[in-house]
Amino acid sequence: MKALILSGGQGTRLRPLTYTGAKQLVPVANQPILWYGIASLVKCGITEIGIVISPETGAEVQTVTGNGDRFGANITYILQKKPAGLAHAVKIAQDFLENSSFVMYLGDNLIQDDLQDFLTDFHEQTADALLLLCPVPDARAFGVVDLDTTGRIKAVVEKPKNPPSNLALVGVYFFSPAIHTAITTLKPSARGELEITDAIQTLINDQALVIGRPLEGWWLDTGKKDDLLEANHLVLDSYLTETQIDGNLDEQSLVRGRVKIGKGSILINSLVRGPVVIGENCRLENCFIGPHTSIGDQAQLTDVDLDHSVVLAEAKISHVQKRIADSLIGRRAEVCTIAKRPKALRLMVGDDSRIELAGDKK
Ligand code: TTP
Repeated sequence: MKALILSGGQGTRLRPLTYTGAKQLVPVANQPILWYGIASLVKCGITEIGIVISPETGAEVQTVTGNGDRFGANITYILQKKPAGLAHAVKIAQDFLENSSFVMYLGDNLIQDDLQDFLTDFHEQTADALLLLCPVPDARAFGVVDLDTTGRIKAVVEKPKNPPSNLALVGVYFFSPAIHTAITTLKPSARGELEITDAIQTLINDQALVIGRPLEGWWLDTGKKDDLLEANHLVLDSYLTETQIDGNLDEQSLVRGRVKIGKGSILINSLVRGPVVIGENCRLENCFIGPHTSIGDQAQLTDVDLDHSVVLAEAKISHVQKRIADSLIGRRAEVCTIAKRPKALRLMVGDDSRIELAGDKK
């Protein structure tokens, strides 16, 4: 059994962060999203892992993630020259996958469930595809399945106007090598991509055994800001089990709940209410850091009230007289107040950024 993690793509929904970096490397609880998928595969014994990368962000993914040693895995990087679809990514990975069954894992997806039971099920059923499913309130934006009572999938439809069920395809799929033959028959879809849903429908039409299994825990596709904040919230809730303070707190600082503070970080007159992760070599002075917040290495915060947010490495935030909440602040970004009674906003904001002045409804 091998694994193929898809870490190419364009990441348009997470601009402007994805102009300068890979979305799969955006941190959740201070760890790249991609690494959660790798860890989950290794946990169930899958260590031969191929990662599909793009020309734009591939080098960064490769440098940050490495050859797999840190995970106990062996990672091979596979360049996809254009984001021509999920099935296209499988097609160009055929030399790596050879004749092996494999798990296809979307590198920006996070799931809470362990993969082991699904893997055992896939082998026991000798299925050609086992697809993980999650009930969603409005299935029209997803790949959706029509399932019989035994869990066999009768049809899969991409973004249907009238969904046959509320069960969406999660970004984790188990395939036998039969998927390669199905992919060879595909034509590009209306959006010009080779769609994995079309390949799966081809398997179904050929009477192959394609089964669906609902997740028990949460699933998040971190492709957008609010989903990423939600992922940060859930991961801090689930994985941050104890307090670990490797930095220094002065006597006026206080930590409540589960909080992790990295080496070399200094807290002066600050209160942190967990679950919160603060990276290494950060400096926080006169701050309140509220639950479900992650702060990257070398960030500097002065006079800040921050809650339910993700702040990336080397960001600087100072003297902001309002609470900052539900925010995603990029690497080296600066947010500051430079007057006693500010009367105007002075902005230098990158393309596709969004700034909201929140409060009571207008
Ligand atoms: P998507 O989120 O569907 O696509 P995207 O990354 O281009 O994002 P956006 O819609 O915001 O522009 O892709 C799911 C995952 O699969 C993600 O980790 C990127 C990866 N991917 C590839 O590796 N190759 C591809 O051809 C495509 C379409 C996606």
